[in-house]
Amino acid sequence: MERPGPHAVGSYSDAWREEFPSCRSAVHMNHAGISPIPRRVAAAVRTLAEEALLIDDGIYARWEARVHEVRGAFGRLIGARAEEIAFVRNTSEGLSLVANGCDWSPGDNVVLIADEFPANVYPWWGLAGRGVETRLVPRCELRFTVDDIAALVDRRTRVVSVSEVDWQSGFRANLASIGSFCQERGILFCVDGIQSVGALQVDVGAAAIDCLAAGGHKWLLAPEGCGCLFVAARVVEQLRPTALGWKSVTDAGRYLPYHLDLRPDAARFEAGSPAHLGVHALGAALDVLLEVGPRMIEERILATTAKLADGLRRRGATIVSPWGETERSGILNFRLGENAELYSALSRAGIICRKRLGGVRLAPHFYNDDSDVERVLEAVDDYRRRL
Ligand SMILES: Cc1ncc(COP(=O)(O)O)c(C=O)c1O
Repeated sequence: MERPGPHAVGSYSDAWREEFPSCRSAVHMNHAGISPIPRRVAAAVRTLAEEALLIDDGIYARWEARVHEVRGAFGRLIGARAEEIAFVRNTSEGLSLVANGCDWSPGDNVVLIADEFPANVYPWWGLAGRGVETRLVPRCELRFTVDDIAALVDRRTRVVSVSEVDWQSGFRANLASIGSFCQERGILFCVDGIQSVGALQVDVGAAAIDCLAAGGHKWLLAPEGCGCLFVAARVVEQLRPTALGWKSVTDAGRYLPYHLDLRPDAARFEAGSPAHLGVHALGAALDVLLEVGPRMIEERILATTAKLADGLRRRGATIVSPWGETERSGILNFRLGENAELYSALSRAGIICRKRLGGVRLAPHFYNDDSDVERVLEAVDDYRRRL
């Protein structure tokens, strides 16, 4: 396939759709759940498997070099350096590394948001035995602001941890305001980025984010089991790695004599050998995302959700998602009539989506196009005719 350049807005969609054979059978709008992988990712996995059949002498060095490239690619996507990226299995693991790595004292607290996905709650709850209190900021009409967070912060608050994009409603938090609030008070600012990175432009520097974790299987278009943890260089030394191994230390390839001088970069959180299959797959997915370009991806996703919202409203639907320009995301949640029936009608029509908050959650990616929007709206028309 001849690949379109990143600026070929008008005509590129069809060519990129070739990367997603899932388009032929269904309208995949569940990127907030689990995404189909592009052909290029499948090819990377096949190549690695073929190489592993032989493990020739040079292969390990090439795989290691690729691991470093993939760190850099994830870093580019979020405005960080390769040295600030560690590979993790998933978001939960990344957030747990942060939660368990902080130097807590009994009586400290962490501030979270109500109704978050449990991946950003249980790592913090797990600290109860160390005397750490978890505080939940209530939402107001699915939203929260930095002022709501400030109301629960006190001098014992050590961490604020939020999802940039809410898993059910798609509400996009104002990270920059929360980041500067935390920075001014010396509070560690941690972000669950799985519902935003890969879909929306994320800049860890601009939002003063200290740590961010994102699993690969949603908007990053990679298989499950590999994701990234960003740890800003300024806070690496503040976090104690909770798993140690031969790769945690400087000059790890020398093995002996033993020493426990921890690597100065985020890879100190990885402990041992990398999950090469997962990292290579994630690398191929990141290549696709970077070629299309984060700005264009965000524009296309927001344009698609806007078209869907428009068409749905004209058909009498209620948009559940907060829908202001700065608070909407790749997730569109709507209600129309009886939800279980609506969901079944969409499923029967080949629309892959999920039921959330008593509505239906649609989550299109950059390669979904107007024909997909039409198919969703036609399925809704069909459902309405039967009401
Ligand atoms: C906000 C959020 N965080 C995390 C996850 C998944 O966590 P993990 O990557 O640990 O499987 C999801 C999945 O739905 C999610 O919506």
